[in-house]
Amino acid sequence: MQSLESKVAIVTGAASGIGAAIARDLFAQGAKVVIADFNAEGARALADELGEATAAFKIDVADPVANEALVAFAVKTFGRLDLAVNNAGIGAPPTKIADIAIDDWKRVLDVDLNSVFYAMKYQIPAMIATGGGSIINMASILGAVGWAGSAAYVTSKHALLGLTKTAALDYADAGIRVNAVGPGFVDTPAVRSGMDPAIVAQLAAKHALNRLARPEEIAAVTSFLLSGRASFVTGSYYPVDGGYLAV
Ligand code: NAI
Repeated sequence: MQSLESKVAIVTGAASGIGAAIARDLFAQGAKVVIADFNAEGARALADELGEATAAFKIDVADPVANEALVAFAVKTFGRLDLAVNNAGIGAPPTKIADIAIDDWKRVLDVDLNSVFYAMKYQIPAMIATGGGSIINMASILGAVGWAGSAAYVTSKHALLGLTKTAALDYADAGIRVNAVGPGFVDTPAVRSGMDPAIVAQLAAKHALNRLARPEEIAAVTSFLLSGRASFVTGSYYPVDGGYLAV
């Protein structure tokens, strides 16, 4: 029996990179998956590839109303909601704090942090309606340490850990587990696009394993934490970082 059989999942940012690998992994474990992304075409292409147990949904995760609509879509399409991976996120060009434009700061916090509050606000009641569930919020190693020039991103990912812990405490008695995953640098379009190979090698060297992660390696831990095999894990932060934080 597959570990997520009969479960219904939402994955945001699922058209690309880590989110797409998670959607594929959850599908392979038997879950029905709503592939949610701002990139409607990419989400549709993955849903078409995987087939009837998946559905695509276009969303800007920074929009609270759209988050409510996404949960309603999942429940309408597949009858319930058991699992959610709040993964969509953006970075910003490296900028020191005094030079960050106010709107740029707000946009990163909206997409990387406020979105997760909006998501859980609507996901949690839907999960309670069918007896509980499990949520993963996609943080980063930059939820634990800083990175020069990335104040808005680092702030969002640190705050995401506080939000995750508090959600776990608020809903433990409702049968909802909430955890955060913290990838090291992952070989995805967000990291690779336009980056000099020498810089990629420098990034790789910051990990004890001396390479970037593959998206599938983040997906494997995410699927495990979502599954009943992690039934005593809540309020936790799981780095999947090739030893980055061990140095
Ligand atoms: P990616 O850029 O490959 O994929 C992100 C997806 O999110 C894209 O499909 C994009 O269309 C979607 N997206 C962006 N803004 C959105 C919005 N407002 N509403 C809905 N969808 C939106 O990125 P990647 O690398 O897969 O990152 C996924 C998550 O993992 C992010 O939260 C990122 O911060 C986190 N992460 C990534 C690391 C990396 O090295 N790639 C390292 C640590 C964390």
